[in-house]
Amino acid sequence: MKVVQVGYGYWGANISKKLVASSKFEFKALCEILPDRAEKARRELPDYVEISDNYENYLDDPEVKAFVIATQTVNTFDIGMKAMSMGKHVFMEKPLATTVERSLKLMEQAKKQGVILHCDHIMLYNPYYRYIKKLYDSGELGDLMYYDTEKLNLGPIRKDVDALMDLAVHDIAVIDWLSGGCEPVELSAMGHIPFGEHETHTYLTMKYDGFIAHLKSSWMSPLKIRQTVVAGTKKIVIFDDMSVERIKVYDCGIDVKPAESYEDYVYTNRRGDIYVPNIEFEDSLQNSLEFFENCVQTGTQSLSGPEPSLRVMKVLEWAEKQMKKQ
Ligand SMILES: NC(=O)c1ccc[n+]([C@@H]2O[C@H](COP(=O)([O-])OP(=O)(O)OC[C@H]3O[C@@H](n4cnc5c(N)ncnc54)[C@H](O)[C@@H]3O)[C@@H](O)[C@H]2O)c1
Repeated sequence: MKVVQVGYGYWGANISKKLVASSKFEFKALCEILPDRAEKARRELPDYVEISDNYENYLDDPEVKAFVIATQTVNTFDIGMKAMSMGKHVFMEKPLATTVERSLKLMEQAKKQGVILHCDHIMLYNPYYRYIKKLYDSGELGDLMYYDTEKLNLGPIRKDVDALMDLAVHDIAVIDWLSGGCEPVELSAMGHIPFGEHETHTYLTMKYDGFIAHLKSSWMSPLKIRQTVVAGTKKIVIFDDMSVERIKVYDCGIDVKPAESYEDYVYTNRRGDIYVPNIEFEDSLQNSLEFFENCVQTGTQSLSGPEPSLRVMKVLEWAEKQMKKQ
C-alpha cells in the first residue's frame, strides 16, 4: 500500500523505520517542515522515499492510498481532515485529537468518505497486553477488580499536551478494550505544573461499573517505569515492561466463605503458583501499522478506530476538565 508519512520527530523516525522494513507498505514520501529534520530523514531513509516539506502535494496523488500522521497532537486534526477529504485512509498518532469535538469531526469525516481511520493506540497491538486480554476473556482472571498503572520517565516535555494526554491515554485505551467499551462513571484527576503550561505529573482515578482504575503518569521521574497490575477475582497479573520476565500471573486472591450474618463471613488469603508465560516478542508499532494496512485492504474499521478512540477522548477531556478545577 502506497503511503505518505507526515512528521519526522522522535516518534516519526520510528514509524519510518517500520514502514521501510514492512513488506506491506510502499513508502512514497516523508513530509517534514523543519529543514534539519527533513535533512535527517534524507540521510536515514532509502533514496526511493521522496522528502518534501509539503504534504499537500500528495493529497491528489491517486496512487497514494493512505497518510500516516506523526506530527505534534495539536497539528494532526487538520492534516487528517484534509487527507480524508481526498479519500485517503489515515493512520493517526495517539490521541485521536485534542478534544471530543475534533474527534467527532474526524469520525464523521471517516464515515462520510468511507475511509479507515486508525488511531495508534499501540498497546492494543502489544503481545503482552494481548496476552492479558486473552486471560481476561477466557475467564481465568475472574471479574476485574482493579487496574493500576505507572508510566513514568524523565521527559520529553511536550509543549502541546500534558502527561495525561501523552501517557495515560495508552491505558485508557487498554481499559476500554479490555472491558469491551466500558466508560467510567466517576473520575478524579490531579496534575502538577512545575514549569511551562502543561501538567508534567498526573494522577487519574476512575470508577467503572464493577472495577476501579488508577493511572499515574509522569515526565519527571528519574526512573523509567512501565508497570501495570490487572487484578481479577481469581488471578492477578503484573506486567512490568522493564523487567526480563515482563508478565507474572499470580494465582492468588481472597476466598470468601459466607455465613448467616456478615460478621461471621470468613476471608482467607489464597496463595498459589506464580506463572511466567513465555510470550514471543512482537513489535507493537509494526503490528499497529500492519493492522491498519489490513483494515484498508479488507475494508473493515480498525480495533482502534474512531468509535473506541472517541470514548478514550471523552475520558481524557473529562479528566482534563477535572484537573483544571484543582
Ligand atoms: N504511539 C506511541 O507510543 C507514541 C509514542 C511517542 C509519540 N507518539 C505520538 O507521535 C506524535 C509525534 O510525537 P513526536 O514525539 O515525534 O513529536 P515531535 O515534536 O518530536 O515531532 C513532530 C514532528 O512533526 C513535524 N510537523 C508538524 N507539523 C507538520 C506538517 N504540517 N508537515 C510536516 N511536518 C510537520 C514537526 O516539525 C516535528 O518534526 C504525537 O502525536 C505523539 O503523541 C506516539
